[in-house]
Amino acid sequence: MANRGFCLWLTGLPSAGKTTIARELAPLLRERGWNVELLDGDEIRQGLSSDLGFGRKARETHAARVTYVAKVLARNDVIPIVALISPYASSRARARQDIGRFVEIYISTPLDVCEQRDVKGLYKKARAGEIKEMTGVNDPYEPPTTPEIRVDTVRLAPRDSARYILKELDRLGWPTHR
Ligand SMILES: Nc1ncnc2c1ncn2[C@@H]1O[C@H](COP(=O)(O)OP(=O)(O)O)[C@@H](O)[C@H]1O
Ligand SMILES: [Mg+2]
Repeated sequence: MANRGFCLWLTGLPSAGKTTIARELAPLLRERGWNVELLDGDEIRQGLSSDLGFGRKARETHAARVTYVAKVLARNDVIPIVALISPYASSRARARQDIGRFVEIYISTPLDVCEQRDVKGLYKKARAGEIKEMTGVNDPYEPPTTPEIRVDTVRLAPRDSARYILKELDRLGWPTHR
């Protein structure tokens, strides 16, 4: 039981740092004996979810597919690290219920900081009216109210954010060593 996988679900606005932190966190868990798989929203949209847009229903379907993959990985001794905006609380609640062993990690970077980072230039386009359904600008983001872990990327660099998550997982009793 102690060696069973569990899902780390990173949620946050675009450019909050989900992908960056997931990539820092994965090797730290691998060093500790775990098999880790990154499930990145953008990457999955190029394959499994390439048919989906950005409306509410499409985002829910996207989250449901990622949930399914995370579930089958977690029950096979893998730690899936999900990096997905997942703007709807109901989708995250569903993921928690379906996966069971589930840690919600809120990458809580404020909108103005995300907008300054604007990794893919999408905030700029949204402000210019060139794209619709941009989370944080003209599409909703429902922040987690009771995440297990909350990461402040204004205060912590990516590597330190990953170390902080490990420390919190230990504190919460999750097996970070396999
Ligand atoms: N403490 C931090 N944690 C994560 N990313 C940070 C941090 N500080 C600055 N950044 C930068 O913010 C950007 C986050 O982008 P990304 O990880 O792609 O966001 P997301 O996947 O949430 O859309 C990267 O350019 C990253 O280098
Ligand atoms: Mg990303």
